[in-house]
Amino acid sequence: MSRRLRVAVIGAGIGARHVDGFNANPDLFEVAVICDRDLARAAALAKAVTAGTLELHGDYDDALLARADIDIIDICLPPFLHAEAITRALRAGKDVICEKPLVGSLAEVDAIEAVVRETGRVLMPVFQVRFGNGLARAKHLIQTGAAGRVFLTTAQTHWSRGADYYAIKWRGTRAYELGGAFLGHAIHIHDMLTSLIGPVRRVSAMTAIRVNPIETEDCGGATLEMADGSIAVLSVTLGSADEISRLRVMCENVTMEGHGEVYASSKEPWEFTPKAPKDQAWLDAALAGAPVHKEGFARQFEAFHAALMAGTPPPVTVAEARASLELITAIYHSARTGERVALPLEADHPAYRGW
Ligand SMILES: NC(=O)c1ccc[n+]([C@@H]2O[C@H](COP(=O)([O-])OP(=O)(O)OC[C@H]3O[C@@H](n4cnc5c(N)ncnc54)[C@H](O)[C@@H]3O)[C@@H](O)[C@H]2O)c1
Repeated sequence: MSRRLRVAVIGAGIGARHVDGFNANPDLFEVAVICDRDLARAAALAKAVTAGTLELHGDYDDALLARADIDIIDICLPPFLHAEAITRALRAGKDVICEKPLVGSLAEVDAIEAVVRETGRVLMPVFQVRFGNGLARAKHLIQTGAAGRVFLTTAQTHWSRGADYYAIKWRGTRAYELGGAFLGHAIHIHDMLTSLIGPVRRVSAMTAIRVNPIETEDCGGATLEMADGSIAVLSVTLGSADEISRLRVMCENVTMEGHGEVYASSKEPWEFTPKAPKDQAWLDAALAGAPVHKEGFARQFEAFHAALMAGTPPPVTVAEARASLELITAIYHSARTGERVALPLEADHPAYRGW
């Protein structure tokens, strides 16, 4: 039986976009608490909540996590606080949503996975950018076999960040942000890449700090060999004059490219160019039946609710967050050592406990 789930949103920065996502599903969710140690920020966000009665809360604490009238703890805290907050919320018996990056190492994600198993609760990492109808059409062409073999993919995260962005003290630091542009910014398009093409087999990468006086990389490049044998080339910078997020996939029968909204690049418009002798009529037939859903947070949360009601895995799993952190670990290890890194990475890898 379906029921409306009550959510406590912890962290009122990106938490504002989460509130939009819950508001878009008014029959499924009610934002019951907004928690932020900056109460003025929590109060400002409270104005956006459109359903139910809402309470404000300061520092998140055990009393909040243990409340019987809350179903879901939604963690929108800075990265270095995720692991502890997730563990406490799961142990308090709650289902949990947590922002990216889920945690700061493969060892931490494996420890979190153990708590998920021990508590029997559900943890859903956030990868809202994956939920878009353009990427869904590309997936349809690959999954039905219409696209044919994938040859090469390029993923460009060419964004712009300056001093105003780094005025928030946790950003740009190894201890608090846990990594740089590969981890904090390009993580979304790289999640789109693996959700489309599948796992990564080998990684070579370089990183540099070129744009801002920070501790973590703001430029980088990587070449990946995917498990299907195709190549992916990733380029990342926070020093571009204009901003673009572009995923371009060259396949046997079609070239597919998404470069619409910078922070929602899985949405339309996507361009699909059939490769001769395939033609537009073939493409139209091949794209028929591709699913159309809500997008972004609204879709990820809608599918999360359905999974909780059905007892099925959430639309983004801890295993997928682990795969994302495994790629990050490989990129940073390759950049530091000059090695070409083979995946998967297990507990005996030197970077398992941190990059
Ligand atoms: N999915 C996305 O597209 C996306 C976009 C931006 C940020 N993020 C992620 O969201 C997370 C938060 O980023 P942000 O930009 O919103 O950060 P932010 O610093 O703007 O907001 C974090 C909030 O947490 C509050 N906070 C800190 N410690 C607290 C505590 N103990 N109790 C209660 N509140 C506390 C702070 O007061 C602050 O308002 C990060 O992990 C970031 O990587 C994701």
